[in-house]
Amino acid sequence: MCGIIGYLGDRQATPILMESLKRLEYRGYDSAGVAVLEMPTSGSARLTSVTKSEAKVDTLIDKLKANMPSGKLGIGHTRWATHGKPTYINAHPHTDCHSRIFVVHNGIIENFAELKAELEAAGHEFTSDTDTEVVPHLIEANYKGDFLSAVRAALRRIRGAYALAMFTTDDPELLVGARLNAPLVVGLGENEYYIASDITAIIPYTKRVLVLGEGEVAAVTPLGAEVSTLDGVSVEPKLIHVDWDLSQAQKGGYQHFMLKEIHESSEAVANAMRGRLTDDGTVSFREFDVPDDDLRRHSEVLLLGMGTSLHAAMVGEYVIEDWAGIPAKAMDASEFRYRRPTFGKDALAVVITQSGETADTLVGLHQAKERGALTVAVTNVVASSAARDADGAIYLHSGPEIGVASTKTLLAHLVSLYLLGLRLATVHGRVSLERRRELVESLRALPDHVQSIVDREKEIAEIAHKYSRYRNFMYTGRGLGYPLALEGAIKLKEISYIHAEGTTGGELKHGPIAMLDENFPVIAICTASATKDKMVSNVHEIVARNAPVLALVTEGDRSLAKVATDVFVMPAVEEAAGAILNTVMLQLFAYHVAVELGQDVDQPRNLAKSVTVE
Ligand code: AGP
Repeated sequence: MCGIIGYLGDRQATPILMESLKRLEYRGYDSAGVAVLEMPTSGSARLTSVTKSEAKVDTLIDKLKANMPSGKLGIGHTRWATHGKPTYINAHPHTDCHSRIFVVHNGIIENFAELKAELEAAGHEFTSDTDTEVVPHLIEANYKGDFLSAVRAALRRIRGAYALAMFTTDDPELLVGARLNAPLVVGLGENEYYIASDITAIIPYTKRVLVLGEGEVAAVTPLGAEVSTLDGVSVEPKLIHVDWDLSQAQKGGYQHFMLKEIHESSEAVANAMRGRLTDDGTVSFREFDVPDDDLRRHSEVLLLGMGTSLHAAMVGEYVIEDWAGIPAKAMDASEFRYRRPTFGKDALAVVITQSGETADTLVGLHQAKERGALTVAVTNVVASSAARDADGAIYLHSGPEIGVASTKTLLAHLVSLYLLGLRLATVHGRVSLERRRELVESLRALPDHVQSIVDREKEIAEIAHKYSRYRNFMYTGRGLGYPLALEGAIKLKEISYIHAEGTTGGELKHGPIAMLDENFPVIAICTASATKDKMVSNVHEIVARNAPVLALVTEGDRSLAKVATDVFVMPAVEEAAGAILNTVMLQLFAYHVAVELGQDVDQPRNLAKSVTVE
């Protein structure tokens, strides 16, 4: 949520801020702005040029091109509104009463109302409705010539979440960053430095990145970056080398990032498995290297996530329970935190988050840790908050995912959970060598099978064309098909704004079936599974209510050939592998419906890629 970028170096800041904001736009895109400390002409005071737009980054870029600020220190922001509408005055950067301090922010200042009242009583004048604006004013109130000390003093008063990039007109060689409960990295280039809300923003410039910890402040000068706590205690920051490359963060000829990322599915599936699986089904995770005996002691599994990642968790729940024979429970992380869960030290808590920064999921992770659970983050972002805070990490290695809708990372999540399921099944002695070998074979064949579905894009686009005239959709499935039904529905609604819901085949006649008629199609997941025949009966019930049915069926199964309105035939594979293939089909279907309707697929309204506020 909200992308932030800061630059200090030998080059002109504005073009770098412009490029970085373009790459950050997936984090939020309702307004944008930059502040650049201009080079003073001889004798004149240093001025800061502020440019804002109450629309997407392209509008800001047009404004900047027409009037390019010149300067080597600057900050930029692309916004996902929390407090205050997406208007010009609410767009960042924000400043103090004397335009000496400039701030961009991602997060929510929870005690902003109280701080604002206090600052207003002391004579500070506010111009926006944002929570962010208290930050420059609070720094101003504490500023007695030492900017860094003023920043620390201000931040000690703030509750909530922040990732900040800031500068003062008094010091053209100081860029400051700080974070609490929101991600922030410092990029180290050649004679130049960056502060960014995520790595994607700075991939073209550097692969050397410092990851700030909670409550840490980075002071960046031409001499380097120094990190300290809010109390001024020096900290040795963690340096990581990023292995993502620029081409992964560009569209590469595709109309949308989402389509490009679906086309990377086969590779994502292969990468999630690479180096982790032997021929006899032994699974090892480098960053989650728990001895068998320790893992065996964890006799229940809790899986936490939000949105698409919650659906991955639900698939994981079915698979772990089935393969390992131990209790597994998937939970919406935002609900988990407000319950009084009964699990404790015996649990393995698996947090599923592609970004590693989802606020609700992180709180769930912290609570699970406090209760003594062994925790592991399944995430795409190395050194993300989830990866750092959990006891171990299972990295997806999918490369950056820019489209707001999660696609390839969901597949990588599913593969990772299958591997974890296999590992748990093995340590709990619940799976024979023969069955392990079968699963290995099935998993290894997956990249090719996935590619075979992606290669049928044209066929799926034709089906999407036919169905795109409907305004309501029901998705239904049983077993692994149920989370996939929920996922099919979320994918369709988030990018096409068509109403869609998911239900189990069993639940259908307990209410949802009342909605169905000839204008309310159903997408039924009827591929091979233990409950396939039950799904076939459900499709008969649906057809009897005149609802059009698009059924996903396994090749060779003719039971719905003359019943469903349309069938999409999937390869005959093992059930867990089939869930992945069904997912790809549903992603392409949703994508093409949205394209048919002319929607902004990569940046759907009201959404942001990474939800770093609760
Ligand atoms: C799905 O397409 C969405 N992007 C959203 O539901 C997402 O899965 C959710 O916000 C969780 O994100 P995370 O995986 O980064 O934690």
